Amino acid sequence: MPITTELEAALQQRRTFAIISHPDAGKTTLTEKLLLYGGAIHLAGSVKARRARRHATSDWMALEQERGISVTSSVMQFEYEGYKVNLLDTPGHEDFSEDTYRTLVAADSAVMLLDNRKGVEERTRQLFDVCKRRRTPIFTFVNKCDRAGEDPLRLVSDVEAELGIACHPVTWPIHRHDVLAGVYHRRQRQIHLFDRGSDHGASQASVEVGSLDDPRIRALLGPAAHDALQHDIALLDAAGHPFDHDAVLSGTLTPMFFGSALTNFGVEPFLREFLELAPPPLAREASTGLVEPTQDAFTGFVFKIQANMDPKHRDRVAFVRVCSGRFDAGMQVTHVRTGKSIRLSAPQQFLARDRSAVAEAWPGDVIGVVDKGTLRIGDTLSAGEALEFRDIPRFPPEHFARVVTTDPMRRKQLDAGLRQLTEEGAAQVFYAESEAGPTPIVGAVGLLQFDVMQFRLQHDYGASCRMERMSYRYPRWVSGPAAAIERLANERGRLRLYDAKGNPLILFEEEWVLRWALEHERDLVFSESAP
Ligand code: G4P
Repeated sequence: MPITTELEAALQQRRTFAIISHPDAGKTTLTEKLLLYGGAIHLAGSVKARRARRHATSDWMALEQERGISVTSSVMQFEYEGYKVNLLDTPGHEDFSEDTYRTLVAADSAVMLLDNRKGVEERTRQLFDVCKRRRTPIFTFVNKCDRAGEDPLRLVSDVEAELGIACHPVTWPIHRHDVLAGVYHRRQRQIHLFDRGSDHGASQASVEVGSLDDPRIRALLGPAAHDALQHDIALLDAAGHPFDHDAVLSGTLTPMFFGSALTNFGVEPFLREFLELAPPPLAREASTGLVEPTQDAFTGFVFKIQANMDPKHRDRVAFVRVCSGRFDAGMQVTHVRTGKSIRLSAPQQFLARDRSAVAEAWPGDVIGVVDKGTLRIGDTLSAGEALEFRDIPRFPPEHFARVVTTDPMRRKQLDAGLRQLTEEGAAQVFYAESEAGPTPIVGAVGLLQFDVMQFRLQHDYGASCRMERMSYRYPRWVSGPAAAIERLANERGRLRLYDAKGNPLILFEEEWVLRWALEHERDLVFSESAP
């Protein structure tokens, strides 16, 4: 097949997405069910079992050491009805970090998973904001409908009001005697009634399909449930947002689905519709303009670097999202930032948490490149023009800690280590003025990042240190008259820092103090990211 036809075909099949959710909404369960339907695993329970093993040990570092880098490697590939699906894992729980946000930059769409009792929660909102800024298409799956939850109509208005995105329910839950019996598929105008099966969701749910006015379905549901459903559907048709695929693709309308990952109810109708409506890999912005995925020359960018926690194996894996062209193992590409030519000799692809060698990859795919320390987050690799993809944004840290060296003789190594970790994107380092000179302060999106930093400073740079947590939560870069910055920084509950480039920023302890400053300090300009 000529490369362009092959490339076009590969593109049309590809869907690359991430799941955004608050802890406990059911991300692990849904991931597992998608793999089950995709045939990547045969019985649900295996991803979960791995997760349980992982959480069973309190010593995360020891586990990383023992298992090398595989624990947090995180791209799952599966096939479903002709589609090749890449599910990018967004680390959650205690391993929530900047990586979680950056992964969204590598995805073409996102699935927002909600708990039917809780609706939009804090973490969902944070991740949603990143998607919204990038106009990423978002699909919503309301989970745990097998047990009573909020009224679905309320959940719809909750999402619309809290997140400012229009909703179009594609499937709607059907309850019979308060038990989930199935879903109504509005685009197909069909009812899917499920059979619970006897193995607690370990295998696919069996389904009975019929139309709303089918007397057999009315008999199966009973008149009360059938009437309630007819009422809801009429209401949605009359008062809800109509379906609009362009609005979905521009991220202003979210198709909404109801179901239960645990019992598999509604998972398959969701998966089918999602794969049909989600975009294939799209053109991406670069220094030379838009890069079409169909261009022949391979291009890609690094969105995550996973350091090896095993000191015997110092190599790291850089996760590269392929943006255009075809990638072949052993390919010679330009590392655009340095202008050097590098050979991508041992790329890897991922299924669940196991790695396997890959011979070729296409736009939308993610490959793991073993790296000795050359690559950084945001770097572009190109087999053609020396273009650079737009920077991956840095996200404001949410936690801060003072780095106290426990071995003052090795202060230089500590500084070098902090610089290197910053370049890798594993930390953000700032300095506070003190009588003893500049004191390093690290900022992180997730708390586990502090442990990782401390471990790596000790093992990679021989710089042992202590991390003292601080109570500041809200950083803002600030510019304006020096006297005004000075006055603001000296008030209680604030701290002035400098970033690695010498730009001043102020940390605030309390959100309301920050809000007050934003409203009243008219001479100053505040920003959530470095200038
Ligand atoms: P997470 O990765 O988003 O943190 O969530 P996870 O899948 O681990 O699910 C969190 C809890 O919610 C689990 O219960 C899981 O079984 C449950 N859950 C997931 N999907 C559904 C669903 O559709 N319906 C219901 N009723 N529960 C669901 P757990 O008690 O914490 O763990 P486990 O003992 O079940 O493993």
